[in-house]
Amino acid sequence: MVIIGSDHAGVDLKKEIINYLKKSHIDYMDVTNFEDQDGDDYPDVAYNICTNVLKDSNNIGIAICGTGIGISIACNKVKGIRAANCSNVQMAELAKKHNNANVLCLGARLEFFQRFDNVKSVVNAFVNTFYEKGRHERRLVKIRKLEEMNIEDGKEYGSCI
Ligand code: RB5
Repeated sequence: MVIIGSDHAGVDLKKEIINYLKKSHIDYMDVTNFEDQDGDDYPDVAYNICTNVLKDSNNIGIAICGTGIGISIACNKVKGIRAANCSNVQMAELAKKHNNANVLCLGARLEFFQRFDNVKSVVNAFVNTFYEKGRHERRLVKIRKLEEMNIEDGKEYGSCI
C-alpha cells in the first residue's frame, strides 16, 4: 500500500497524486490533512507516514513538502526508513534499485513538478521499480549499522574505509 501525506505546501499535489493512484487502482492511505493548514509541519507529516510505512514491508510512502528536502531529512531520522528526495525519473528508479528506498519525497514547489506528467512519471518509476539487492545489500547493512549507533558514544563503526 502507498502511504501518502503532505504538509501545507503539498496539499494540492497530494490531491492530484491521490486521484492518479485511484485511477490506477493502487491502494493508498492518506495520513495527513486534506486542507491547507499552516500548523502541519513536515516533521509531523514524516512521523505519520513513516510509522505507517513500517507496519508492512510491502508499504511504500509518498511524502510531500515544498522542496522535498525538509521531509526527507525528517523521514530519514526514523529507523528503518530510507527516504529519497527524487526530482526526476532516473533518481526514482535508482533510489529503488540501489537503495531500496521505502519513501519517495517530492517537492511540490519545484518547477519540474508543476507539470503533472512529470509527477506521474516519477511516481510510476518509484512504484514499479524494485530493489536489485546484490552488491547493494552490503551498503544497506552498513546503513542499518549506522542506525544502531549512538555516534556520540564513540562506538567503533568498523568501516573498511
Ligand atoms: C513549508 O512552508 C516549507 O518550508 C516546507 O514545505 C519545505 O519546503 C521544507 O523543506
